[in-house]
Amino acid sequence: MNMKAVVLAGGSGTRLRPLTDMTPKHLLPVGGKPIIEYGLQAIAALGIVDVAVVVGTETREPLRAHLGSGSRWGVRISYVFQEEPRGIAHALLCAADFAGRDPMILYLGDNLLGEPLSGLVQSFFRNAASAAIAVKEVPDARAFGVAVLDTEGHVRQLVEKPAQPPSNLAVIGAYVFRPEVFEASRSIQPSGRGEYEITDAIQALIDAGKTVVPHRVAGWWKDTGTPADLLHAQQLVMEGLETEITGALDADTTHQGSIRVEREAFVHRSALLGPVQVGAGAWVEGARLGPHVSLGAEAQIKRAVLENCIVLPGVTIEDEQLSDVIVGPGMRVSGARR
Ligand code: DAU
Repeated sequence: MNMKAVVLAGGSGTRLRPLTDMTPKHLLPVGGKPIIEYGLQAIAALGIVDVAVVVGTETREPLRAHLGSGSRWGVRISYVFQEEPRGIAHALLCAADFAGRDPMILYLGDNLLGEPLSGLVQSFFRNAASAAIAVKEVPDARAFGVAVLDTEGHVRQLVEKPAQPPSNLAVIGAYVFRPEVFEASRSIQPSGRGEYEITDAIQALIDAGKTVVPHRVAGWWKDTGTPADLLHAQQLVMEGLETEITGALDADTTHQGSIRVEREAFVHRSALLGPVQVGAGAWVEGARLGPHVSLGAEAQIKRAVLENCIVLPGVTIEDEQLSDVIVGPGMRVSGARR
């Protein structure tokens, strides 16, 4: 048996505009790495080689350019085009030929998980299930798919973004399916928001008497829908940052906590309070960075204080104090009096 993976990266990321006008949501960096790379790494860690990335009109070219063949992660990427974002079940159906007769992981490319996918896959095989879905208890499940379990602990009901959640078990963006999910996805109608919902397709499996099991995720989980989500996701992933300095720090620079300074980056007369990540070729001078700051490649930061920030590549920040912000690619932010 050859398990495959389908990673969804279509859609348009409207809640992250104008950032997503310049960089598709899945390529926005968190802790110095594009969101989608975390999912690809988690999939590659399972030994899965065949990965389909579902792309849309806006994401097709940038994702292809960034991810290429997938060899950097040890996977083989096939790109599947979804003409319009008509829902997750629709996006999955676009990859039906790719999946063939093999079981597959479906991974929503804008989700970040603080634990490996092996627990989810084990739940699927141990229970000889038709589907396994990752779930997590959340204080307010209204923004998610919501699962209700039966007395055996299997999934009995799934509802998409209910105004009054029947439980606090949110459905996370990682699932394992057998190919019968395609038939279920063809059998459903669009939801109130006009989408072919994966929750409805899974409900169709349950209604047909199939076994759908939950896998409770113990670690953290983040759906990166809004700027605040991105900043929070960065805090979570950066807790695991390991110090690595391939660039240079001068003798007048102090640092504490984990810091990563990439090749050809130079930090001069500054203070780094980890976790901090300085991208390749960045120039930092007279600055105080951290905690939870990531700088994209070639950023120029002079006489600035940054805390809890995501700075995209090619940004210049001078004489400025910023916290809790995301600075878009190539922007120039200057607090100097002119
Ligand atoms: O994050 C978990 C939630 O993801 C689940 O709790 C929900 O049950 C599930 O429906 C989904 O809800 P969202 O509203 O957050 O999904 P979103 O529209 O953000 O799409 C998730 C990913 O799938 C995103 O990477 C874009 C991609 N996508 C989405 C649609 C609708 C596509 O590739 N094609 C599509 O047609």
